[in-house]
Amino acid sequence: METKIFQPDQVEAAAELLKQGQLVAFPTETVYGLGADATNEHAASDVYAAKGRPSDNPLIVTVSSVEMVEQYAQPLSQPVKQLMAHFWPGSLTIVLPLRSGTLSKTVTGGLDTAAFRMPANQTTLKLIAAAGIPIVGPSANTSGKPSPTLASHVFHDLNGKIAGIVDDGPTQVGVESTIIDMSTDMPTILRPGAVTVPQLEAVIGDVRADHHHVGANETPKAPGMKYKHYAPSAQVEIVDQPADFESAMKWAAQQAEAVGVMATDDILTQLDLPDNVEAFSLGTGLESATHLLFAGLRHFDVESEVKHIFTEGFASDGLGAAYMNRLDKSAGGMHFTNK
Ligand code: TXA
Ligand code: MG
Repeated sequence: METKIFQPDQVEAAAELLKQGQLVAFPTETVYGLGADATNEHAASDVYAAKGRPSDNPLIVTVSSVEMVEQYAQPLSQPVKQLMAHFWPGSLTIVLPLRSGTLSKTVTGGLDTAAFRMPANQTTLKLIAAAGIPIVGPSANTSGKPSPTLASHVFHDLNGKIAGIVDDGPTQVGVESTIIDMSTDMPTILRPGAVTVPQLEAVIGDVRADHHHVGANETPKAPGMKYKHYAPSAQVEIVDQPADFESAMKWAAQQAEAVGVMATDDILTQLDLPDNVEAFSLGTGLESATHLLFAGLRHFDVESEVKHIFTEGFASDGLGAAYMNRLDKSAGGMHFTNK
């Protein structure tokens, strides 16, 4: 299969493919998603095959209107309506109880809930409206690899496996949406993202954060959170203190192989980089670092031979909670501690 690239003014043609049950990747403000008709069980199962995704990991349902959600979910509560009014379109995915028999097991992973999201990307909102159906929207990467923040990342992972990619340039946020579970009594954050706990609490009151590390025998609330994620083939190590980069570089200088370093410009310009060290800039601060994190991990995975990547850590609050959650998973929890 030849994977076609569509420009934003060609969404009608891309919508036709979706209606035919084909797979089309689409841009969002967080990361690129892999779209397919959410009401077509075959199309949804093709998404698992293309990504190599375990079948017990349910798919997000991506919509272009609140009315689309109402066709599948149980009547929306007042707090859910408030969340939608405040944060949609935007980086918040909301888990809601379904009316029975509305979405297939292939989409829901057998749960009686589904995760709904309306992304802040005009091209994709037009695409979904043109197709007239909600589309599933897992990140458009091979399962286990960093999520794609450029159409070229999607092409690298899925070329030949999907019908098309709608290219709308780089995504803005760089990490996936915040997931909030509104199907239980206590609103619970299942995955941190650009919409933060204080922002949510300002709208609906207390929410609980539940995105702790899940042990092998535990069933996580967001099934996808139990898998190894965002991992390049090199070992990622988190450098928590800017000062520790110097010892990391001393360690790197003694290695026979090439070593990667991902940090903001303030740190990179102060460092004396050994010859075998390759730097990838995370820009000026937390926001740009979040935007560039996955691109950096992919850069070292595809374009270089490094075995280690030292990556800058940030404080885990606000957007930092999302950044550190993804970095921690890609590092398998490994921190650099002055080896
Ligand atoms: O920003 C995003 O959310 C991106 C863009 C493309 O929209 N999508 C995305 O999808 O990150 P995915 O499939 O890579 O991550 C969705 C997560 C998975 O961990 C999955 O287990 C969880 O949402 N999930 C899906 N349905 C759920 C449900 N009913 N209850 C709890 N978690 C659910
Ligand atoms: Mg994903």
